Amino acid sequence: MSTATTVRPLDTLADFPAIPAGWSYLDTAATSQKPQPVVDAIARAYGETYATVHRGVYQRSADMTLAYEAARVRVARFIGAEPNECVFVRGATEAINLVAHSHAGTHLKPGDRILLSMLEHHSNIVPWQMVAERTGAAIDVVPLDAEGRIDLDAMAAMLRPEHRMVALSHVSNVLGSVLDVRRAVDLAHGVGATVLIDGCQAVPRLPVDVAALGCDFYVFSGHKLYGPTGIGVLWGRAELLDAMPPWQGGGSMIDRVSFERTTYAPPPGRFEAGTPHIVGVLGLHAAIDYVDALGLDAIHAHEGALVAQARDALARLNSVRLFGPEDSAGIVSFAVEGVHPHDVATILDEGRVAIRAGHHCAQPLMAALGVEATARASFGVYNGPADIDALVKGVERVTRIFG
Ligand SMILES: Cc1ncc(COP(=O)(O)O)c(C=O)c1O
Repeated sequence: MSTATTVRPLDTLADFPAIPAGWSYLDTAATSQKPQPVVDAIARAYGETYATVHRGVYQRSADMTLAYEAARVRVARFIGAEPNECVFVRGATEAINLVAHSHAGTHLKPGDRILLSMLEHHSNIVPWQMVAERTGAAIDVVPLDAEGRIDLDAMAAMLRPEHRMVALSHVSNVLGSVLDVRRAVDLAHGVGATVLIDGCQAVPRLPVDVAALGCDFYVFSGHKLYGPTGIGVLWGRAELLDAMPPWQGGGSMIDRVSFERTTYAPPPGRFEAGTPHIVGVLGLHAAIDYVDALGLDAIHAHEGALVAQARDALARLNSVRLFGPEDSAGIVSFAVEGVHPHDVATILDEGRVAIRAGHHCAQPLMAALGVEATARASFGVYNGPADIDALVKGVERVTRIFG
């Protein structure tokens, strides 16, 4: 059992208008609540400065284009990348589908293999199954170690030159386990595979520098990073993006169009067909400013302390089974003996504690854990010790009700 560290609240609760007093929101891994600066940025964009981007010759549109592209520069700085390597997409799901379709879809052939892990979100499984079916490639799955981390020793033993693509989660959305990305990338590059990292749960919880991680693609969603829904980022190495065909056709992604022949814009525009989610991009910029001002090291320490406190308190209840490693990043999955996780979540909700219960879009992981579902508490910058107390009191009530 870990020793609970003192939780030092980040004192941000007042920044979040949709969290009323006394409500413990512990479902940040699904989607985060929005701080006032993000709400304000969205309201200002629609209410004061709104216009299209990249097309208008009038001043308002030129200004909006500058704001849109400034957000791209901000995203790049946030993850240690170059702006032209950052593609705005709808979210992590779309980013993975884009890479699977456009990169893997043009490179894979029968006999090639894709390596995934047992803990992947369905978003990092199904697009690869679709491209495997299309190209004749096969999928292998890296198992987890006893604590619920992707077993990199097992991965080292599995990797073969046929593995052309490796796609892994940086942080598990169920177990909170953190991948040693650098080691995973070195192993995969050792056989010449291309590596995509699903950073959905990592980017809101840890400092991320794609250059230091060494991966080839990195994806995340804005709505888990205190930003709006409908916007996310695909980062890819410039030379890989350059070589990728577009996956959607339409306005903005072209160089010249004629009925005889169309040529395409260079990345990132090549992958941003149609009018983009302009206001979402501005909201994401505000979210990154907000998170960076708090500091991802401070957020990571804060969530680590919350996890330690929650795990210690829940472990004292005999009927609770905890999943995942002790040093998980901001996410604690658990089960109460003899009680369905949906009942746990319903009873907690009666006590104004919002957690997630279900398979968390990770059915293969549920099967590996030998359960249908888990209860999951996931933390954000607005949570503090009072939320852990409310969670533990709620779980104690569950055990009383179910005897
Ligand atoms: C690890 C992980 N990957 C991918 C996704 C998909 O993200 P989105 O639904 O925002 O595209 C999620 C969302 O829960 C996630 O937690």
